[in-house]
Amino acid sequence: MRWPLLFLVLYLLALADGQLEFSPESTELDTGGLSRDSFPKDFIYGTATSAYQVEGAAHQDGRGDSIWDVFLRQPGLEVNNASGEVTVDQYHRYKEDIDLMAKLNFDAYRFSISWSRIFPNGTGKVNWKGVAYYDRLINYMLQKGMFINYLTFVSPFCITPYANLNHYDLPQALQERYNGWLGRQVVKDFADYADFCFKMYGDRVKNWFTFNEPRVVAALGYDNGYFAPSRCSQPYGNCTAGDSGTEPYVAAHNLILCHASAVQRYREKYQKSQKGRIGILLDFVWYEPLTRGKSDEYAAQRARDFHLGWFLHPIVYGEYPKTMQNIVKDRLPKFTKEEVNIVKGSADVIGINQYTAFYMQHVTVNKSMPPGYQNDWQVGFVYEKNGVPIGPKAYSYWLYEVPWGLYKAIMYVKERYGNPTMILAENGMDQPGNVTIPDGLKDTQRVNYYRSYIQQLKKTVDEGANVIGYFAWSLLDNFEWRLGYTSRFGITFVDFKTLKRTPKMSAYWFQKMLSRKH
Ligand code: GAL
Repeated sequence: MRWPLLFLVLYLLALADGQLEFSPESTELDTGGLSRDSFPKDFIYGTATSAYQVEGAAHQDGRGDSIWDVFLRQPGLEVNNASGEVTVDQYHRYKEDIDLMAKLNFDAYRFSISWSRIFPNGTGKVNWKGVAYYDRLINYMLQKGMFINYLTFVSPFCITPYANLNHYDLPQALQERYNGWLGRQVVKDFADYADFCFKMYGDRVKNWFTFNEPRVVAALGYDNGYFAPSRCSQPYGNCTAGDSGTEPYVAAHNLILCHASAVQRYREKYQKSQKGRIGILLDFVWYEPLTRGKSDEYAAQRARDFHLGWFLHPIVYGEYPKTMQNIVKDRLPKFTKEEVNIVKGSADVIGINQYTAFYMQHVTVNKSMPPGYQNDWQVGFVYEKNGVPIGPKAYSYWLYEVPWGLYKAIMYVKERYGNPTMILAENGMDQPGNVTIPDGLKDTQRVNYYRSYIQQLKKTVDEGANVIGYFAWSLLDNFEWRLGYTSRFGITFVDFKTLKRTPKMSAYWFQKMLSRKH
């Protein structure tokens, strides 16, 4: 076949595949002035996922259960009894997914390692088949430097792995052995697991995170029980056991010590030779006072302290925020001198997951309620002011599009926490799960969301914030925790029956914005 004819055939094939649906010239792909040049030269652009949400293969090759596997087995808990058992099957389709990242011009992939795939019992015997999976995943990312796709485009760029050691999925064995995050033994067990990962993958992985959103683990797992392991005091959720006034604080304390001990291992044993960096991923909603009155201002500040400060304050300053100490009193654990030594300064980089903003107002605490973490905030959440919503709503009940909230959140971290090295580690919005092709591919609202949020991120960098990378959540539609498959966060549409991936308009928007030729 002659070359021009071959190209024509390939082009038509790509069209038929829906891959060229949005031409780069389309005004819908307006980058709003953003390009690779908008940020400093080494700025990293990636997408993020997590093991339980994308891998599937839950019972394959020796993986042990995590607390989410067991939690979701309760019939009727999730719509259609959804779970991550198969999800988008990245365990078998990782090559296709990494090819897609490269094609969309991303530099990096933030994934998480499933602890119970490596240690099915949490500790002890290694599951070498699980170890081998992450070897394949990492190696394929790094090999992308020589990737050739079917439009004969040769990319000299690899996909840099950003590995996160835990994304909510504690091994069930440890839940049973000592109540999981509530048991102090978890600190050593997590450090051993982390140490093993550094040893196995640290020659190739130079960017590590210990945890994704430990606040969500502690608050949703132990204050309202909405997430695994679903513990709480009765009025705050539908749990069979728990104590919302103490357990969230104990779990958080142990999570912070797990983080610090893993960082200590990395620094003492690996960092010098492997030359990587290690940090933690923290969720942060921007809390805007509802009115300019003092009491709402204080309410918003308490919310920031109870949300971000709970974890970031100890990591930067070695203690919990004063607001928390004053309100929670002796229900709040204290760090010993030795613990302060390992906790303070225990991050080379802080990942901030930022999606939304809420208004905050002061409320007087209801004394008839038992103590509880959320109750301790003494705030009311408000989503509109004078009848005007804080921003357009996405599908998730908690997600409003508020780009200025990202600006304020990053500038807050810059000012209050000494401008640490930051990564905007998650950002995105969802559509309802029942959208179909072709409508679901035309995600104009998501394009607007990304454009306006990244413009605000640029503003923070221009004003001196030390942000070195940006990760979109998520590469693919996937298993969205308690919303199962009724929510789609992907820039790539996944047909949950066939698992076929089709990039949405937002994927092409990133491809254009991240284009390396200009
Ligand atoms: C984050 C979480 C992710 C993802 C996302 C969208 O808080 O880390 O796992 O589900 O929210 O809800």
